[in-house]
Amino acid sequence: MRRKIVAGNWKMNTTVQEGLELAEAVAKNAEKGMPEGVSIILAPPFTHIAGIKEVIPDFIGLAAQNCATEESGAFTGEVSAGMIASAGAQYVITGHSERRSIYRETDLELNKKVKTAIKNKLSPVFCCGENLDERQKGIHSEVVRKQIEKGLADITKDDFQKIIIAYEPVWAIGTGKTATPGQAQEMHHFIRNLLKELYGEKIADQTSILYGGSCKPSNAAEIFENIDVDGGLIGGASLKADDFMAIARSF
Ligand code: 13P
Repeated sequence: MRRKIVAGNWKMNTTVQEGLELAEAVAKNAEKGMPEGVSIILAPPFTHIAGIKEVIPDFIGLAAQNCATEESGAFTGEVSAGMIASAGAQYVITGHSERRSIYRETDLELNKKVKTAIKNKLSPVFCCGENLDERQKGIHSEVVRKQIEKGLADITKDDFQKIIIAYEPVWAIGTGKTATPGQAQEMHHFIRNLLKELYGEKIADQTSILYGGSCKPSNAAEIFENIDVDGGLIGGASLKADDFMAIARSF
């Protein structure tokens, strides 16, 4: 069956010391026991990964929030997938809407990032989602279709097994405005059908699709209840260990 995953995207928050304390608090809570089949992943800033790896148990996953398109070389300021793996992470978020909109990352670049991540044995957490204008125009499905078709192009079925998808409607990120359970289910179902069309039924059935956007302890259960929602990618609420763990326990 599909993995249920709750991942915390810390974005550009916390010092190294604060990040260690947050990770330790999450670990302490998680060690009390997790709901059956639920995994948690922390995505701190790059600078925190190696240190956090030392203070969390192996059952908690670690992710970077981005990686370079290239493997190594003269790319000042970039961090490669190989470096991330060597720091102890198993995942990398690619195509977050903040990377797409603020840093103008293109579908082609994201496709390269997904491929270099897989090559370096990282599981990509590939983000997609429409903005408010696209939702109001009613073109949200087309936008997500294009992001997935281009960003996840030319991946073998074997490699695709490593991919996790996060549907994050941009209008719900950090706004306090969550997609309704019905809106989330509709898009997750659309994405699963698209995976079936592009990669076949087995991949569609196996791929975890997470919801992201103002997910909090008070609304997580009704979102996770949907048949095609396999967990969440949590921003703001992941910065408080108790809130993050309350979300992880809402299944
Ligand atoms: P918020 O949970 O703060 O809305 O952020 C969602 C997000 O962007 C996770 O990647």
